[in-house]
Amino acid sequence: MTTRRLGSTGLQVTALCIGTSPLASMPRLYGYEVTEQQAVDTVNAVLDSHGAINLIDTSNGYGNDGSAEKRIGEALRRRRSNEPGLGGLPAGTILATKVDPDPYTGDFSGKRVRQSLEESMERLGLDHIDLLHLHDPERISFDEGTAPGGPVDTLADLKREGLVSHLGVAGGPVDLMRQYLDTGVFEVVLTHNRYTLLDRSAESLFRTAHERGIGVLNAAPYGGGMLAKGPETQTQYAYGQRDDAIATAAAAMRAAATRADVPLAAAALQFSLRAPFIDSTVIGVSSPERVAQTLELAGVPIPDALWEELEKLVPDSSLWLDPPKQGS
Ligand SMILES: NC(=O)c1ccc[n+]([C@@H]2O[C@H](COP(=O)([O-])OP(=O)(O)OC[C@H]3O[C@@H](n4cnc5c(N)ncnc54)[C@H](OP(=O)(O)O)[C@@H]3O)[C@@H](O)[C@H]2O)c1
Repeated sequence: MTTRRLGSTGLQVTALCIGTSPLASMPRLYGYEVTEQQAVDTVNAVLDSHGAINLIDTSNGYGNDGSAEKRIGEALRRRRSNEPGLGGLPAGTILATKVDPDPYTGDFSGKRVRQSLEESMERLGLDHIDLLHLHDPERISFDEGTAPGGPVDTLADLKREGLVSHLGVAGGPVDLMRQYLDTGVFEVVLTHNRYTLLDRSAESLFRTAHERGIGVLNAAPYGGGMLAKGPETQTQYAYGQRDDAIATAAAAMRAAATRADVPLAAAALQFSLRAPFIDSTVIGVSSPERVAQTLELAGVPIPDALWEELEKLVPDSSLWLDPPKQGS
């Protein structure tokens, strides 16, 4: 898997990135439990992919008490005990995590941001983070986020202190992501479920960011699972019930893909991989087999005729997570 430059960070990332929220075991979000062993085996499958996937996405807040980070940390600790020379991450592997509010008090102050990083490094067994995101800042006001000594200021301090190499903003609403990018502090933007076969809310944000030399990470190309498992199995899109037209469009897209002998998941994944303004696509998986399957789906030949047919089936923009503003 070739690598791409992540904006102007100097980091070389593979087009595929593995997201670890399913590894935290969040049955409320994904509908099933994941054991620690399964999570550790999945992390190892990524680390043993011989560079096919060199980017891992996680967060302080994935799972109770940061179970996703703890499980990644456990995989790394076991590797170190087998390979004494192994330091932090295997060479060439890049890990991104995110700062989150206090899970009990909801505090998301500057002080909490620093504490969140300390917790993450402790769980991961790392003394430095390649890429640190401000996670879901839609949980606080923009003024709180950018207040003197607040989250954004503290993130900039953590970078100046050398604990973190690069800063990103990772969240939902595209207009808010744009506001944070305009502060000039963030080198990378991640949003989710907003550049998929079913939703194009983030297209202009991503294009503009790419042109400005900001790294672009597109998360959840399967809409949280609907475009991989099918709308009957995963009835939610982006972790919530949506207008029926979304599931109807997904079913029509799968029918079109089946006629072309292409798995819908392959079209959903490659829709993101083929976008020149996206540096890496963040896919959530919860088993080692999925890592090999993902590489396979990335290589399935897809005829142009299917892309044209899928384009005609895109739901009306009024049904997107962030419908475009009148006149934009
Ligand atoms: N605000 C943020 O920063 C934010 C928000 C959302 C997501 N993210 C990041 O992006 C990652 C991806 O998002 P996501 O996991 O919510 O959504 P996703 O990647 O669109 O979908 C993940 C779901 O698809 C299923 N899946 C994956 N490959 C499959 C295959 N080959 N066949 C059938 N099912 C398959 C997974 O099931 P299995 O578990 O069975 O593999 C999982 O339930 C997250 O893990 C997280 O790292 C970040």
